[in-house]
Amino acid sequence: MLKSKHLIGIENFPTTDLIKIIDTSFYFKKILISDERKTDLLKGKTLVNMFFENSTRTKISFTLAQKRLGADSINFTSSTSSVSKGESLKDTILNIASMQIDGAVIRHSHPGAALRLSEYIDGSVINAGDGSHEHPTQAILDMVSLKEKFGRIDGLKVGIVGDILNSRVARSNIFALKKLGAEVIVCGPSTLLPSEAKRLNINFSYNLDEVLNWCDAIIALRIQMERMHFGRLSSKREYYSKFGLSFERINRIKKDIVIMHPGPMNRGVEIDSKVADSENAIILDQVLNGEASRMSILYLLLGDNN
Ligand code: CP
Repeated sequence: MLKSKHLIGIENFPTTDLIKIIDTSFYFKKILISDERKTDLLKGKTLVNMFFENSTRTKISFTLAQKRLGADSINFTSSTSSVSKGESLKDTILNIASMQIDGAVIRHSHPGAALRLSEYIDGSVINAGDGSHEHPTQAILDMVSLKEKFGRIDGLKVGIVGDILNSRVARSNIFALKKLGAEVIVCGPSTLLPSEAKRLNINFSYNLDEVLNWCDAIIALRIQMERMHFGRLSSKREYYSKFGLSFERINRIKKDIVIMHPGPMNRGVEIDSKVADSENAIILDQVLNGEASRMSILYLLLGDNN
């Protein structure tokens, strides 16, 4: 049983809960890759997946995780809901909350939307990404992927390159890696590094080649054109030449490093296709681990496992 009722972010999430979710993910991965693929551990539970922003990986893997755990779930998409008629977030939440649900997964463009939801519903809330705040389930699947690859997270050297400023993935990963004892360096243009870097106590570099020669694993982030303010990025071509994971740049490193990306990828902007599809890339393993991690999160938050 976890101490937490909700998963809103990694920053304030107990480390013991984080470790338990990661370790239990390996149990669910075994089930996922078996012929059975299913359990009835959440039979009788009802969940709503509320996606106010687009998603492929997170939405599908939560939906599949719920089905594989035997739960009943329904997907809510804002563009086909009464939100398009002007209904507020609060009214939308109050209406869904009154339908006897045990938990909700929410993705929303506003930082704090998941926390707000947890104030209105009795069940557990899982943040599937709230603006540039946090994406805790992405960080958990990344920790599972690192642990699967290296056997540990403590002491690992992990670089994160890209749009740190706008990235909820970077924030959640920084919190998770630090809680679990990894060393982290973030890398990117000065205009895409957060001013709160000091508060987060993170090391940063403007030299990707140095970071690549230092790290065991590099996480390349997506350049988020939809959250980009004018003037922060001179051009995609210049970004690629300085901060892109090009084939030539990766080939120059004198050791093997693991390549990660949360998706969706901008091939040719933050990562070369040949790098994304190379043997050192574990990008599709991350996706499968996302399904296992989300089964673990749902089971430990909502299941009768105490
Ligand atoms: N990594 C991630 O959150 O992908 P989606 O936006 O497709 O869910």
